[in-house]
Amino acid sequence: MLEKSYEYMKQELGDFVPDTAIILGSGLGDVVEAIENPRIIPYANVPFFPTPTVGGHKGQFCAGKIGKHNVLCLQGRFHFYEGIDVRMIYEIIRMLKLLGIKQLIITNAAGSLRMHMPAGSIMLIADHINMSGTNPLIGVCEEPYFPDMSQAYDLEMRNKFMQIADEERVPVFQGVYMMLTGPNYETPAEVRMLQMFNVEAVGMSTVPEVISAAQLGLKVMGISVISNLATGMDMNKPNHNDVLLQVGKATKRLSRLITRFLEKE
Ligand code: HPA
Repeated sequence: MLEKSYEYMKQELGDFVPDTAIILGSGLGDVVEAIENPRIIPYANVPFFPTPTVGGHKGQFCAGKIGKHNVLCLQGRFHFYEGIDVRMIYEIIRMLKLLGIKQLIITNAAGSLRMHMPAGSIMLIADHINMSGTNPLIGVCEEPYFPDMSQAYDLEMRNKFMQIADEERVPVFQGVYMMLTGPNYETPAEVRMLQMFNVEAVGMSTVPEVISAAQLGLKVMGISVISNLATGMDMNKPNHNDVLLQVGKATKRLSRLITRFLEKE
């Protein structure tokens, strides 16, 4: 699977060998502005590559340098709720590894389960709970067959990110992210259940990528931009336009942190 996609990407990238991939969530496409002279490769040009169906996801690769790192950004991701088999997400992460990627930075928009973590907050994902009811490794059947998830979100990367946030005086939370399939937002009853589960943020992505990366031996850092308080926690009803609006406001801050993260040794 995706061999043809890999061959096309390899040819397009030429002697540019990426070491870091950044997967950009809803409304976070502008994080790539830190890349000088970016090289754009639309997903639509890549054989067998899917195209995102959700607003706020551009659907293109953007390659170039940030600091010393050769970065390959995915402006637009795929979700289980789009009808994408999560096995496809595994194949995409495998392709990134074949292209040279050693570390993955994954961003998403998420709802907050904590009153003190309002819209606009940045949360570093410390761990996750897979409540999606599926798994990207089903049918992969390759070693390691039963990957270890004891440090799915690399501690060194997290510590470095927190240090930079400190230096930049940007408040960053750390917490547990739970993936539900979506695409509907939660009911108030579901939100009360999540609060009992001691979860800080809820979303509809990221977990398949992180499980795939764990199997493939890639280091991962995950960052949620909080776009709203989860359903029932305030008078607002979550909706995609507000999600994009709130996430848009945090983009500059997040961009700065990721850029400094990649510039710093
Ligand atoms: N729930 C699930 N996913 C989300 C939310 C939410 O409240 N906000 C942004 N993505």
